[in-house]
Amino acid sequence: MFVLGLQGSPRKKGNTNYLLSAFLDEAKKRGAETLAIHVPDKHIKPCIGCTNCEKKGVCSIKDDDMTKEIFALLRRADVVVVATPIYFYNATAQLKALIDRSQTLWSRKYKLGLTDPGRQDRKGILLAVGATRGKNLFEGMILTAKYFFDAIGADFHGKLTYRRIEDFGDMKKHETVMADIKKEVDRLEPMIKRRKILFACRENACRSQMAKAFARYFAGGKIDALSAGTRPAENINPIMEEVMRESGIDVAFQKPRSIDDLVAQTTPEMVITMGCGEECPIISGVQYEEWDLSDPAGKPIEFMRNVRDEIENRVKHLIDSQE
Ligand SMILES: Cc1cc2nc3c(=O)[nH]c(=O)nc-3n(C[C@H](O)[C@H](O)[C@H](O)COP(=O)(O)O)c2cc1C
Repeated sequence: MFVLGLQGSPRKKGNTNYLLSAFLDEAKKRGAETLAIHVPDKHIKPCIGCTNCEKKGVCSIKDDDMTKEIFALLRRADVVVVATPIYFYNATAQLKALIDRSQTLWSRKYKLGLTDPGRQDRKGILLAVGATRGKNLFEGMILTAKYFFDAIGADFHGKLTYRRIEDFGDMKKHETVMADIKKEVDRLEPMIKRRKILFACRENACRSQMAKAFARYFAGGKIDALSAGTRPAENINPIMEEVMRESGIDVAFQKPRSIDDLVAQTTPEMVITMGCGEECPIISGVQYEEWDLSDPAGKPIEFMRNVRDEIENRVKHLIDSQE
């Protein structure tokens, strides 16, 4: 399970950072793969309302970290943790820019009717701190988080909010924070415990991407579907993206990943190889299965469709065999 934390405070050693780090440490201890993004360090331009995403499904701003990095991480994440200090009843401006730019994902879902397979089971969690004690202190941020989570295809799973947290160190001194975090991470245990199945091929651009997407789409609640390649390509194959869209599945923003990187972060319980042969690293104690699938890269679209259908059938059988 991959937990993405979005840290919105410009204070690197402040209260929000403490809260998010403690949350991610606990999730990691239980077996999750985690990554914290310090949002103010990222170059994220504010949305310009051009509506390009509503028409074409992609953002017109291409030269910043949202397009280069964040969309892909949001799509890969199983859990997105938004962490922010309250600034004027909402998120910090840096985090709000990221939230507004998720309009591209909102457009793909609501304007273009595309289905991100990760949305079947993705969860969103809000962590927020504020200096005052007002009853409505978190109301604005909660609403913003709810709509953000909906746009990125995540259910609002839970929140930890703390009043009267102002100076450096206040969060650390809070009496119940560690117990609160443990309780919140307990609720993620069923997701963490899903069986990890790694689909592996050479470039992680076609076959293993399709298999992961189908496994997430049909069995996200039961299987932690991963994919990687022995020699990852720069980008996923656009013809693959097209034929998956024909099947109603949106694989946009997926990024090829190397097997070495993946196994450094997590250990799968089963590996399904589909063309990497003897190059695929052997992880001891792990069940291996080989799917004999032709490489569709560079072949006509009809060939890609046939491989897609074959993969869909095999994934459905695999899911049935996990019951
Ligand atoms: C620009 C700015 C606006 C703020 N607005 C609010 C606010 O509306 N309500 C509130 O309770 N605290 C407000 N605060 C206080 C912060 O939420 C509080 O100090 C918090 O603990 C900072 O978290 P950090 O250490 O993670 O940055 C504001 C702080 C700043 C700098």
